[in-house]
Amino acid sequence: MPVKVNDTRAVHQFSILLSPPQHDPRLSDTTMTSKLTEIPATMTAIEILEPGGPEKLTTVTRSVEAPGKGEVLVKVAAAGINKPDVMQRQGMYPAPKGATDIPGLEVAGVIVAIGEDVTFWKPGDEVCALVSGGGYAEYCLAPAVQCLVVPKGLDMIQAAALPETLFTVWANIVDRAHLQKGETLLIHGGSSGIGTTAIQIGCLLGARIFVTAGSPKKCAVCEELGAEIAINYNKKDFVDVLMKVTAGKGVNVILDMVGGDYLPRNISLLAADGRLVNIAYQKGSKAEVNFLPVMLKRLTITGSTLRIRPVEVKGAIARALRKRVWPHIESGDIAPLIHATFPLTQANKAHSLMESGAYMGKIVLKI
Ligand SMILES: NC(=O)c1ccc[n+]([C@@H]2O[C@H](COP(=O)([O-])OP(=O)(O)OC[C@H]3O[C@@H](n4cnc5c(N)ncnc54)[C@H](OP(=O)(O)O)[C@@H]3O)[C@@H](O)[C@H]2O)c1
Repeated sequence: MPVKVNDTRAVHQFSILLSPPQHDPRLSDTTMTSKLTEIPATMTAIEILEPGGPEKLTTVTRSVEAPGKGEVLVKVAAAGINKPDVMQRQGMYPAPKGATDIPGLEVAGVIVAIGEDVTFWKPGDEVCALVSGGGYAEYCLAPAVQCLVVPKGLDMIQAAALPETLFTVWANIVDRAHLQKGETLLIHGGSSGIGTTAIQIGCLLGARIFVTAGSPKKCAVCEELGAEIAINYNKKDFVDVLMKVTAGKGVNVILDMVGGDYLPRNISLLAADGRLVNIAYQKGSKAEVNFLPVMLKRLTITGSTLRIRPVEVKGAIARALRKRVWPHIESGDIAPLIHATFPLTQANKAHSLMESGAYMGKIVLKI
């Protein structure tokens, strides 16, 4: 069962709703609209001067763009930091065609303008949103179908930490791996933003959760969030541990963000009809692999990357989340783990912290 994390451990309780929800007090009434008409022509944003270290993140002035068809303009209050932002800064993960070069994949704030064909949202609505870029700025365009209502009792920092990990986890452990109640799920990088969310969603779906993490402290946090067994990958071999735990059967689903030599080890650990989902290759995307077990155990090897997927697909993920997950999240069984916040102009410090690995859960910019 997922553990309800408590305030004394600096973990934020939350509940969330996705768009389009029932009418909610966090959605504006018409009197709000008149207060929100002053949209400046320019804004402060963070630009990647050139590929390189955190110092390449530079504060600049950019134009505020008007929302296009199906888009809303959000006055950003907070923006989540994700590993893909770091990779973009390093020049290893360019913005997809059509996306702004400003980094930032998730925001929370207030809608200040809506584009053509946006019927549900109004200026004044408080939302968090999954975006393809542009989060490190005072204003950000977002596809309307990728906006979520800021949950009751949740502040903007907490709300900004939600979209990227929730969309990614759902798209991979449910849509791709078809994780079932009673199955076992191994999550590599259990204390990451993705990992801490995957633990909680996996628990919600009724799976037994195993994780790897790099220190006893990180392992302890994963277990507190609901992992049955957390393996310190610097001390123990996860294949040995989990083969013993599962009496030689192996695990049903593996969510892997490591790659490299984890690829053959994952394949050897999977149970019959097991599924491996790759979402990153931090140790490389090439490995020597014996594919015989794929045939003998009828394995599925898959993966995905969220950012390049079309708006319609992300909208469909949002609808699935709203239907199947949101009521449970609203009940308080799941919470984002916020490690630290930084002002927008200190995005470089936030990136340095992420690169150090000395954190758990999410790092968020306050705008
Ligand atoms: N495909 C997609 O759509 C998608 C979307 C978002 C993110 N991602 C990827 O998912 C990963 C997590 O993203 P994030 O923003 O949550 O980043 P993050 O917090 O920086 O997480 C990176 C994690 O990788 C773990 N790790 C590194 N080497 C490991 C190893 N040998 N064994 C086990 N774990 C290891 C780290 O664990 P320790 O700290 O314990 O060492 C850390 O928890 C990133 O690689 C990111 O690029 C993919």
